[in-house]
Amino acid sequence: MMSSMWFALLFLGILGSFSIIECQNFNTFKEKHIIQDEEKINCNLTISDRKLNRNACRYHNTFIHDTNARKLRDMCSPYVASTNVASRGSLKLTDCKLQKSSDSTNCAYNQKGLAGIVYVTCENRVPVHFVKFQENSSPSWTVCVWKLALFFLLKELLLTYI
Ligand SMILES: *[C@@H]1O[C@H](CO)[C@@H](O)[C@H](O)[C@H]1NC(C)=O
Repeated sequence: MMSSMWFALLFLGILGSFSIIECQNFNTFKEKHIIQDEEKINCNLTISDRKLNRNACRYHNTFIHDTNARKLRDMCSPYVASTNVASRGSLKLTDCKLQKSSDSTNCAYNQKGLAGIVYVTCENRVPVHFVKFQENSSPSWTVCVWKLALFFLLKELLLTYI
């Protein structure tokens, strides 16, 4: 009787620590990559405020404008096992890159505001890791439309002249 209670406690303990680790991952992810929708940031300040430069300057960091990670959590909600997922639409981003002239005492960044498809790793229904982003060029459907137009044009030409 006693031993099965210990076993249950141990089990709950292990389960609990897993969920704490999961929360940690999500919180770390938010700290590194999430800012408010409309917030204008300065990479120099935000990266230093959030202590993302530990021993050396962080080389590259992308911030996703998504208040409380609402869109990303929505996007991750079906995934329990670790899965890489792309956002359906494009999200607003601020991309920070370390200036070449930086030294470790003063991490200075160049930044760029853009929009793009975001790829993250989802685990237990929350985002835990930023994979990459793909900047919007022309949306893929315009490429499709052009290809179709070209196809019909060529077909007409062939039918007319051959
Ligand atoms: C960050 O600091 C560097 C060096 O002081 C400066 O050149 C750069 O413009 C700053 N970046 C922003 C976004 O203010």
